[in-house]
Amino acid sequence: MQEQAASVGPDELATLKHLALLGALDGATTVTCATLADRLDASNQTASRRLQRLEEAGAVTRELLGDGQQITVTDDGERALRGEYEQYRRVFEQRDAVRLSGFVTSGMGEGRHYISLPGYMEQFIDRLGYEPFLGTLNVELDEASIEARAQMDALDPVRIDGWEDDDRTYGPAFCWPATVETGDREYEQAHVIAPERTHHGADQLEVIAPEKLRDALDIEDDEEVTVRVTEQ
Ligand code: CDP
Repeated sequence: MQEQAASVGPDELATLKHLALLGALDGATTVTCATLADRLDASNQTASRRLQRLEEAGAVTRELLGDGQQITVTDDGERALRGEYEQYRRVFEQRDAVRLSGFVTSGMGEGRHYISLPGYMEQFIDRLGYEPFLGTLNVELDEASIEARAQMDALDPVRIDGWEDDDRTYGPAFCWPATVETGDREYEQAHVIAPERTHHGADQLEVIAPEKLRDALDIEDDEEVTVRVTEQ
């Protein structure tokens, strides 16, 4: 298995990408070496050799036709491409992330109440993929971060719908995937939560997570944290 993976080098991966762009992820696609060579800006011979290597590596299957070949990207091939895609995702997510810093504070215990309401809780489980710890970690943002917070508008959030019970209505909220960093520790699976109608200049950031962040990160009031906010 390892030998196979090793033979899909960068050149083969680029070839595999072009095969996928030609439709070979979705089923057998007719490809000529000339077409591929053109796309790769290489000779026919090079294109042919790369196809052969991809076949040997189990990344594609081939069926030779008169003037071309029918190529299908295999599950292993798709995995190789997805691996690459994930790395690019990380690169751009890091770059597009909004970094907000501040100090951990205690609120008035309201977070616990709101997070536990079934109308929200069911959506958290469904849309965030976890049952949040009952509460929100409050971060009092520094001046620069209060301003930088507006950049979150450009990041696509997970939407939590508003709902109502017999007594009142509860407003919709946005959740952005977030990593909480402090010292050399970080917690990746958190979300910043805010009402849909954000009032700009808000100096408190509220964070939810599957675990109690104070315990998971060993943080107390007045300790500094940085929250790296990304898109869903
Ligand atoms: O409003 P307050 O910060 O006092 O409390 P809360 O939102 O009801 O949350 C209860 C406690 O858990 C607080 O100390 C929060 O800072 C903390 N918490 C946490 O450490 N990790 C979370 N994911 C949520 C809350």
